[in-house]
Amino acid sequence: MKKIKLLLLSLFLSVATYAAEEKTAEAIAPSQPGLGLSQSEILIILLLLFALVLLFVSVTLLNAFKVMYQEQLNPTPYSKPVKEEVLDYDSWLKQKPVKPSVWAKLLGLKPIEEEKNLVIDHAYDGIKELNNPVPAWFNFLFFGTMIFAAGYLFYYHIGGYGDLQDKEYENEMAKAQVEKAAYLEKSANTIDENSVKFDNTPMVLADGKTIFNTNCVVCHGDKGQGVIGPNLTDDYWLHGGGINNVFKTIKYGVPEKGMISWEKNLNPKQISAVANFILSLKGRNPAGAKSPQGEKYEEKDLKDNEMKVAKDSVNQADVTKK
Ligand code: HEC
Repeated sequence: MKKIKLLLLSLFLSVATYAAEEKTAEAIAPSQPGLGLSQSEILIILLLLFALVLLFVSVTLLNAFKVMYQEQLNPTPYSKPVKEEVLDYDSWLKQKPVKPSVWAKLLGLKPIEEEKNLVIDHAYDGIKELNNPVPAWFNFLFFGTMIFAAGYLFYYHIGGYGDLQDKEYENEMAKAQVEKAAYLEKSANTIDENSVKFDNTPMVLADGKTIFNTNCVVCHGDKGQGVIGPNLTDDYWLHGGGINNVFKTIKYGVPEKGMISWEKNLNPKQISAVANFILSLKGRNPAGAKSPQGEKYEEKDLKDNEMKVAKDSVNQADVTKK
């Protein structure tokens, strides 16, 4: 008996070790990637399962044979079956241990046998009412909300650990501002002479001024009055006024006339800033300004642009106010 069990066990173990070895071999040379299990692995798992079932069946059979064998050797003597007395319903009820199931407990259900005790003393038109207890799940929810409310009150209002709506809104807005700035930063570097927009916000003009002072003053004068390069404060332009033209002139330059292309030294955002700064100089009439060169630039486009930007900034102000 023991020997057979041992034999089966060793059989099972040997299959298992074989499978393990196979697995390490797989690990060294992995089969098709993506497919979780290789065919041989599946086969081994099936084999293992089969071996397990076989083991279980054999042990059960062996035990059964054992019992039969012992019964043969030493049979249990025959005894007359005892007749059980038949109970009527009421005494059966009394005998039956009343053990409500977990489910019944959770639902707050009383067994139907106890209904008699639950009837409330009043009846309308023969309709009786049962005084059923409140179900546990309901109590759980009910008291749960109270506990939650207390926790909530403490966390948000008394302890001040959590942010209230207003604060949360502010946080979100601050986050959005950062994201917006990052986005603008990114998109600003993709602008070109066609997409560039007139922008006279102080920050842009300040940037532009710095760039102008470091790069352009030598030829255009500290006030844009013009030195080697032309006067940038009047209405006359050699290469067209307006943000798009000015951006283009700065970007590509006029190398043959002494105005270099700034594309390599300034990024699009910087060119846009300095272009906007130049446009902001219009009408300043600085002392010693060079006389006008080029053609008078019709400001229609610029106005349109300006109006649009003004409208945009109003909209933005609205947004930030909210
Ligand atoms: C080396 C001298 C020099 C420097 C530095 C220089 N420019 Fe010029 N710029 C000129 C000259 C010369 C012209 C006129 C080109 C022409 O006659 O076509 C000009 C023209 C321009 C024009 C066109 C004006 C018009 O009437 O159409 C703009 C705009 C301009 N420059 C902006 C800039 C800016 C912005 C910078 C600095 C980033 C700068 N320039 C730096 C020499 C210079």
